[in-house]
Amino acid sequence: MSGKKKILITGGAGFIGSHVVRLFVEKYPEYQIFNLDALTYAGNLENLNDIKDQSNYNFIKGDITDEPFIKKLFATHKFDGVIHLAAESHVDRSIKDPLIFVKTNVIGTMVLLNAFKSSCNANFDGKLFYHISTDEVYGTLGEKGLFTETTPYNPNSPYSASKASSDHFVRAYGETYNLPYVISNCSNNYGQHQFPEKLIPLFINNIIENKSLPVYGDGNYTRDWLYVKDHASAIDMVFHKGKLGETYNIGGFNEWKNIDLVKLLCQQMDIKLGRPKGLSESLITYVKDRPGHDLRYAIDASKIQKELGWEPSVTFEEGLEITIDWYLNNQIWLNNVTSGAYKSYYEKQYT
Ligand code: NAD
Ligand code: DAU
Repeated sequence: MSGKKKILITGGAGFIGSHVVRLFVEKYPEYQIFNLDALTYAGNLENLNDIKDQSNYNFIKGDITDEPFIKKLFATHKFDGVIHLAAESHVDRSIKDPLIFVKTNVIGTMVLLNAFKSSCNANFDGKLFYHISTDEVYGTLGEKGLFTETTPYNPNSPYSASKASSDHFVRAYGETYNLPYVISNCSNNYGQHQFPEKLIPLFINNIIENKSLPVYGDGNYTRDWLYVKDHASAIDMVFHKGKLGETYNIGGFNEWKNIDLVKLLCQQMDIKLGRPKGLSESLITYVKDRPGHDLRYAIDASKIQKELGWEPSVTFEEGLEITIDWYLNNQIWLNNVTSGAYKSYYEKQYT
């Protein structure tokens, strides 16, 4: 996809979405970028303060499940491309309140697919619907093996089941209506602007506040971590060079057991905060496990590497240091997002 284009990015005020919006606004001045976001608890326009006045950036507040509104939006703009990130994204919240995940992740995706299809009016030339998904749709790995693009879907949480369902609908629209699509399934992201309900920013915030670090179960669960700007650069490549109807797995080649990652984070935080060695580690508390907790995720990202030439740009140690520095230098951002509703979420989840 190239030239003068209108691109809709959904969920652009969230964690990954804001990095994708920034990359596209800065790298492609010839595109008009439309950021559609409902600004739920996870959406924050402060994430985009630095680019909000760019002439190729447009923000639209709206809900992807609001069918009449979305239909009208697509009929007006006839977007050339859609990069769909808007979602409910936290597994723990999906365990407590699954229905909103079905509404946003399944129905919301359907509303977008229908509106995109209608606005194209059977002429899909130069059009693309890019659906951003997760490795969690594949379920869990044992001690060995990697998720490939052909691993069967086997989701275990309401969140991953809703993402798997939306992936299936995107594919079905490709088969049934020839709707041009690509899908990517990525592993755990970390970096600036991640809402502090997810492991790394939650634990950074708790260390700053000297609060306990609630490790689920025995901590021997494995995740494959990728720096968020490397995910954004992969999304850029898939959007511009991905083959229609294909799936691309994206991962960091970077597996960590939770407890080892938490200990590394504690060591780095002690150094950054000038605290005695071991102080942050003493905050680790083993708590009740997450129900249906997937043991291990690990991505085989060789397809996107070989076919599109994508590589992560930073090591985990570098990315983690950038991330820690960002949170320490942006405690106003942290304080803003952890006041109000966050407090009652935290109480319910951890006491
Ligand atoms: P996030 O929770 O930080 O952001 C989600 C954004 O979507 C928020 O800005 C929110 O306001 C918006 N949103 C939610 N419901 C909406 C609705 N009904 N209408 C319009 N906007 C709505 O999520 P994230 O971590 O940035 O994840 C973005 C996408 O990437 C999701 O689809 C997620 O499944 C996927 N993903 C995330 C990760 C990860 O590690 N965070 C990894 C792989 C894939
Ligand atoms: O794999 C991609 C997925 O990664 C994305 O699709 C999801 O949107 C994203 O939230 C993330 O899911 P996880 O459940 O893996 O991320 P989370 O940060 O919630 O948890 C990471 C690991 O840490 C997991 O094994 C659970 C554990 N954990 C998490 C929290 C919040 C704890 O031990 N304690 C905690 O308080």
